[in-house]
Amino acid sequence: MASSALISDMEAWKELKAHVEDIKKTHLRDLMNDAQRCQSMMVEFDGLLLDYSRQNATLATIEKLFKLAETANLKQKINQMFGGEPINSTENRSVLHVALRAPRDTVIQSDGKNVVPDVWKVLDKIQEFSERVRSGSWVGATGLPLKDVVAVGIGGSFLGPLFVHTALQTDPEAMNSASGRQLRFLANVDPIDVARNITGLNPETTLVVVVSKTFTTAETMLNARTLREWISAALGPSAVAKHMVAVSTNLALVEKFGIDPNNAFAFWDWVGGRYSVCSAVGVLPLSLQYGFPIVEKFLKGAASIDQHFYSAPHEKNIPVLLGLLSVWNVSFLGYPARAILPYSQALEKFAPHIQQVSMESNGKGVSIDGVPLPFEAGEIDFGEPGTNGQHSFYQLIHQGRIIPCDFIGVVKSQQPVNLKGEVVSNHDELMSNFFAQPDALAYGKTIEQLQKENVAEHLIPHKTFSGNRPSLSLLLPSLTAYNVGQLLAIYEHRVAVQGFVWGINSFDQWGVELGKSLATQVRKQLHASRTNDEPVQGFNFSTATLLKRYLE
Ligand code: F6P
Repeated sequence: MASSALISDMEAWKELKAHVEDIKKTHLRDLMNDAQRCQSMMVEFDGLLLDYSRQNATLATIEKLFKLAETANLKQKINQMFGGEPINSTENRSVLHVALRAPRDTVIQSDGKNVVPDVWKVLDKIQEFSERVRSGSWVGATGLPLKDVVAVGIGGSFLGPLFVHTALQTDPEAMNSASGRQLRFLANVDPIDVARNITGLNPETTLVVVVSKTFTTAETMLNARTLREWISAALGPSAVAKHMVAVSTNLALVEKFGIDPNNAFAFWDWVGGRYSVCSAVGVLPLSLQYGFPIVEKFLKGAASIDQHFYSAPHEKNIPVLLGLLSVWNVSFLGYPARAILPYSQALEKFAPHIQQVSMESNGKGVSIDGVPLPFEAGEIDFGEPGTNGQHSFYQLIHQGRIIPCDFIGVVKSQQPVNLKGEVVSNHDELMSNFFAQPDALAYGKTIEQLQKENVAEHLIPHKTFSGNRPSLSLLLPSLTAYNVGQLLAIYEHRVAVQGFVWGINSFDQWGVELGKSLATQVRKQLHASRTNDEPVQGFNFSTATLLKRYLE
């Protein structure tokens, strides 16, 4: 396929379009009876089990999706990514988050240079620094050890680290090594978030890590200035050197802000913000909290999936299969959303992170060559841990809109509870729901079944479940740092697969710029009105009216 052609003009796309009619004639109730089909739709890798037999798909669908992948040059695109080619063409950058977790002796080139030694230089620096802070050899301005950390950052400089931190908080090994320490995240420019973050913290024992790829993001810089003032007011301006460090690609701006460049941890343009959790963005705050060895396990889990993604054939490749199935659901079956439903409270911040990874990456309207897409790309991601979600939005998923669901389960709980005299553990209780929900969605409940149960006639329409609602199940052996890394990398690569097939650039985010520049205009107005009483001007009637009310 020529690079400028649209995938939707290709034969493989048209075949899938036509194939939708075949699938409409099927029901998961029947498809699930075919054990051979179901067996072919299970994939195992490195302790993980993926079951996608509850997708509205036959083996013929999967074959056609592989043909689509071939037409889209998926394998070549994956190779280009791993090979450091500047596939983020609108910013002329390579996309090398896989280099962030590559073993020390790997060679990964960007711009003709092996980037892995640079990655490990920063990792070694983080290990050394975090050990000094954790051991108390790095102390604050008044000589006290720094036991609390506030990471200031937003978007990709926040959501990934928050997800991993939350996932590890109850892992016994991680908990043990975090004893007596706290990690908090300040993201929103809302002053309420500042108040919530500093409540209960003592500046004398707090380290602030300012995390910003660009070091220009308005929210982060204001929050960083706010915490700088908090520290200076309590301990004097010279305390900033001991209490503030930074993570950025822009070390010049870090220094200008007043943070010692020796206390800055670099990363690079070839790391996209939403793919940066494995850089110092995540590794520094997480190492301060849990110690570097735990974080290294997380990186190893991600690296294991990277290798699998790079080398496994499509039919055994978990991210490839997931990506192709998402394309099938969005572009052919017309299901615009996807629910991410981890049956683990530890994964409560997983869906918010994937919202950014997926929607900022694939929420695009033009192809990588700038041609308007004649189909919708991207999908609406949302989710909550089970069973909480069951008591919230599952009604809609069962009887309302069709939303493909990702059920994520864990065999061994981080915190098992077995009540005296009860055989079914608390985790078994949780997992009973993980196993039951996909079948409820797939099979539904028919009028005949309800009649057999003697359900009152007038209630039958309300109690009928159409079924045939797609889901997939991903079972992890446990939720250690390693498994968390695996999960992260699976979803990162899945998003890339979708983008590669749709033929879009999943690695830029121009769509966030317009709102930012309009906010700058409003900020100027607020400044002028507050300093010189300047009247509100240059806005439409609606915005001007709202602004005047705000200024009054
Ligand atoms: O929201 C846009 C965005 O550029 C994200 O892509 C990024 O993760 C976030 O802002 C924060 O950017 P930075 O790390 O440069 O502060």
